[in-house]
Amino acid sequence: MCGIFGLISKENLEIGEIALEGIKRLEYRGYDSCGICFQNGGKLTIRKVSGKINNIQEKFNIKSLSGHLAIAHTRWATHGAPTEYNSHPHTDCTGEIALVHNGIIENFMELKKELQEKGHQFQSETDTEILPHLIEDFLKNGASFKEAVIKTLKRCTGAYGIAVCYAKKPDMMIVARKESPIVIGIEEGKKSYCASDIPAILPYTRSCYILEDDELAILQPGEAKFYNIENGMNEILKEPEYIKWSVDDAQKNGYEHFMLKEIFEEPRAIRNTLNIKKEDIELFAQHLLSADHIYITAAGTSYYASLAGKYMITNFLGKYIQSIECSEFQNNLQGALEENSVIIAVSQSGETADTIEAIRWAKNAQKNIKILAITNIVGSSLTRYSDHFIITRAGPEIGVASTKTYIAQVITLALVALEIAKIKQEVSPEDLENYYSALRSTPTIIEQFLEKNTAYVKHIVTNLEKNINYFFLARGISIATAKEGGLKLKEVACRFIEGYSAAHAKHGPISLVREGFPIIFIAPPDETYERLVGNVMEFKARGGFIISVVVESDKKITELSDVTIRIPQPPTQFYNLLSPITFIPALQLLSYYAALEHDLDPDKPLNLAKTVTVH
Ligand code: AGP
Repeated sequence: MCGIFGLISKENLEIGEIALEGIKRLEYRGYDSCGICFQNGGKLTIRKVSGKINNIQEKFNIKSLSGHLAIAHTRWATHGAPTEYNSHPHTDCTGEIALVHNGIIENFMELKKELQEKGHQFQSETDTEILPHLIEDFLKNGASFKEAVIKTLKRCTGAYGIAVCYAKKPDMMIVARKESPIVIGIEEGKKSYCASDIPAILPYTRSCYILEDDELAILQPGEAKFYNIENGMNEILKEPEYIKWSVDDAQKNGYEHFMLKEIFEEPRAIRNTLNIKKEDIELFAQHLLSADHIYITAAGTSYYASLAGKYMITNFLGKYIQSIECSEFQNNLQGALEENSVIIAVSQSGETADTIEAIRWAKNAQKNIKILAITNIVGSSLTRYSDHFIITRAGPEIGVASTKTYIAQVITLALVALEIAKIKQEVSPEDLENYYSALRSTPTIIEQFLEKNTAYVKHIVTNLEKNINYFFLARGISIATAKEGGLKLKEVACRFIEGYSAAHAKHGPISLVREGFPIIFIAPPDETYERLVGNVMEFKARGGFIISVVVESDKKITELSDVTIRIPQPPTQFYNLLSPITFIPALQLLSYYAALEHDLDPDKPLNLAKTVTVH
C-alpha cells in the first residue's frame, strides 16, 4: 500500500533519476499515481501525475532534475480517487513543508475540521494532507521542525510511514513509522536514504536500519539519528541489519516480467529455504507438539500456503489445526481463544495489517499464547510481534502476485511437518527418509516441468482465451492448490474463478456448468484420487471442458480429460504430500500466459498492491 522513497545528499546530484528509480522499485506497493518533491537551494519543487510511474518522466522529464534532497511516492489510493491532486507529496498552506505517507490517519476528519476552522486551505481529499498542515501549525507556534513533527504524530491515530522535508531546513529530512514499514540506508558521510521496503535502497547499501513502531529518524547527508516519538528528547542507538539479497535478485534480468522470472526462480527458492537452520524448524515443531490448541492464520496466497501446511503438519502431528483468515481471526475467536495456544502466522511481507492485528490481539489476551511466524522479510513487523520466526529464503519478490514466496512458505511448513514426524517416531526411518528425499527432489521436479512444459502451457492458454469463468477443483490437500491456482488466474488475468472442493461443488457451483465450461482438476494420485475420478465424470457429463493437472504416469483422469498438464513426479505417497509445491508452478504459468493473452501486465494486476497495510 504505497511506496515511499527519500534521499538526502551532501552534494547536488541528478536526484530526479535516483528518486524515479527508487519509486519504480516500490511500484508493486501501489501504482495508481505518483509524485516527487525536490529541494534545491531552499526551494521545494513538486511534480505529480496520475497513472503509472513512467507518466511522470514523460510529462516532466524528471530524470533531468538535480538537487540534494528528494522525497517520492507511488500510491495505492485509499482516501480520494487516484488523481493528480490526491497524489503525494502533500504540502501545507505555505508550500514550505512537503510530506509523503503510507498508511491511514484514522482521525483525519476531526483534525481537518479543526485546521479548516483555523483557516488552513486543503487541496486534496486525502487523510495525509492534514499532516503538513498540522506541522505548519506547530511551527507557527514556535516548535522546531523535529518537535512539530513529533507533536503532529502524537495527535494522529492510525498507521503511518512518513518522510517529510521543510524548505527552511534544507539539510534535513524526517521519517517516522507506526505500523507502516520504513527502512533507512546510509552511505557514510555522503547520502542517506529511506524507503518503504529494502529493494529500493539495495543498489546503494546492504546494511539498513529498520525503523520500529513509534520511532522517528532525522536524516542528514550520510547520517541518521533515531528517537522515540513518545520521548523525543533522547537519542536511541540502533544497530543496522545486513541484507543478504543482491541487487540482481530484484531485477528482471532478461525476463519480460518479474512474475515469469520469479516462477523460474522457484527451484532456487526451494533449495535456499531447505537450508533454514535446523534449530528453528525444531523449535517450531516442539512448540506445536506441546501446544494444547493450534491456529494458523494469514491472508490471500499466504493463507492458501497455510492450508497446504496445515494438511502436512496434521498428517504427522495428529492434532487439529484451526485455519482462520487473519481478517476474521478475532471475530471467530472472540471469547473463545484457548489458553496455551500456538498461533502460526504466515506472511510474505510480514506487514499485512490484518495478520499483525490478529496476532497482537491474541498476544494481548494474556492467555500464554505463543506466536510462530513465517515471513520472507527480515525485520518486518511480524518478526517483531512474534515469539519465534523463520525467514523463508525466496529472495525479493517484486511481482505483485506471489509465486516463489508461496512455494517457500509451503516448503517451510513441510520441513516443520517432517520434523514432527521425526520427533514422534511414528513413521518408520525408511519412510521418513523417503519423505525427505521427495522434499529434496522438489526443485528438480519443478525444473524439469518448466523445461518441458512452458511452451505447452502457453499453447493451452491460447486455446482457452475466450473463457471468462473457471472452476479449480480438488480434494484433500490439493484444495489449497486449487484455491491458490485460481487466485493467480483471478489476480493477473482478471478471470472469474471458483477454487473449491470437488466434492462440495455438487452442492451449488455445478449448476453453472454448460457445454465447454472450463474446469481445472488438481489430481495427484493420493487417497482422494478415486473419488476425484467420480467428480471429473460428473462435470464431464454436464459438458465441462476438463483440464487436469496430473502426474506423468496418470491414466484414468487423463482419459477423461480434454487437456492434461503432466507433472514429472513419481506416484507415491511421499510425493503426493508435497504436491502443493510441485503442482503449483503449472497453474502460475497458466495464469501468467493468460494475463499476456488478455494484454494485461501480470506484474501489476488491477487494483492490487503487494503489501496490504490497511484493514
Ligand atoms: C498474492 O498473490 C496476493 N498478492 C495476496 O493475496 C497476498 O498473498 C496477501 O495480501 C498476503 O500478503 P502477505 O503474504 O504479505 O501477508
